[in-house]
Amino acid sequence: MTQARAYTNIALIKYWGKSDITWNLPTSSSIGLTLDQLYTDTRVDLTDDLKQDQFILDGQLASNPRIIKVLDFVRQQTGSHKYAKITSENHVPNSAGLASSASAFAAFALAASDSYGLPTDRPSLSRLARLGSGSASRSVYGGFSIWYQGYDHQSSFAQSILDPVDFGIRVIDVLTDKKTKKIPSSQGMQRAQSSPDYSNWLSQSKMQIREMIAAIKNKDIEKIGLIAERNAMGMHALNRSADKPFDYFAGETWAVINDIHRLYHAGIPAFATIDAGPNVKVITDSRSCQKVADQLKNFGEILIQKPGPGVVHV
Ligand code: PMV
Repeated sequence: MTQARAYTNIALIKYWGKSDITWNLPTSSSIGLTLDQLYTDTRVDLTDDLKQDQFILDGQLASNPRIIKVLDFVRQQTGSHKYAKITSENHVPNSAGLASSASAFAAFALAASDSYGLPTDRPSLSRLARLGSGSASRSVYGGFSIWYQGYDHQSSFAQSILDPVDFGIRVIDVLTDKKTKKIPSSQGMQRAQSSPDYSNWLSQSKMQIREMIAAIKNKDIEKIGLIAERNAMGMHALNRSADKPFDYFAGETWAVINDIHRLYHAGIPAFATIDAGPNVKVITDSRSCQKVADQLKNFGEILIQKPGPGVVHV
């Protein structure tokens, strides 16, 4: 038996497209910041009496084809024929709107690698986590990390940029909407790739990766925020210009963004980023985060997050 814990991460430069669906190879590299509040604990037990893999999520029997896909890969790598019992708990305070496949597959990668005797160095874990969910490759690391695009399973892995984070960056989740049924990220990516602006977004993203690494090394929160916001807006513009246009933004998404811009123009560092859903995350600093949170609390539940750790045994 082995149990692991991993935290969610927010993409500052987004992963938004696949070059290979089976291996979850991305069309571009991405950069994430692992956060400290939301995590998943996952335990893997190998027993001889199971006739198939069994997955228990938050106390309930569940099914997830991506877990089976990762386990089949692990068994193929190790020659093992054992089935696994996977017990997973999401620690997501007060809401379901934040459940994350990133923390789940990062924790699962460590617990499964340990149980089946695969290497547990971080690049190897990031490859395995990637097979379940691309963004999970970054949650293997604490602080800032980059997931290199690569061109095959071996070359597409994540690495640390900075951990621990020795400056006061903060990320505030503004939970305006916990229920909206969203388009799953894989489907969203596939549709976005039909946008006539897609290749332009990819070349922008390549430049932004370099700028973002420099901004992180310079501990420049304003630059980090400005680049992240531009990258996120570009991603969502792709969705709106796709063959079959769609939009993750909902009623209050723009209202929150406009307030963030007002704060920025009033001299407060506050920048927006949004993933495959309607909720806005604000990039800010330790000095301003309470003020920003107070300004935005009328929109919904607020969660202030600091940089968090990489995947560990628990
Ligand atoms: O890892 P997935 O398949 O859930 O996709 C994540 C997509 C975004 O969250 C929108 C961007 C990212 O890089 O995390």
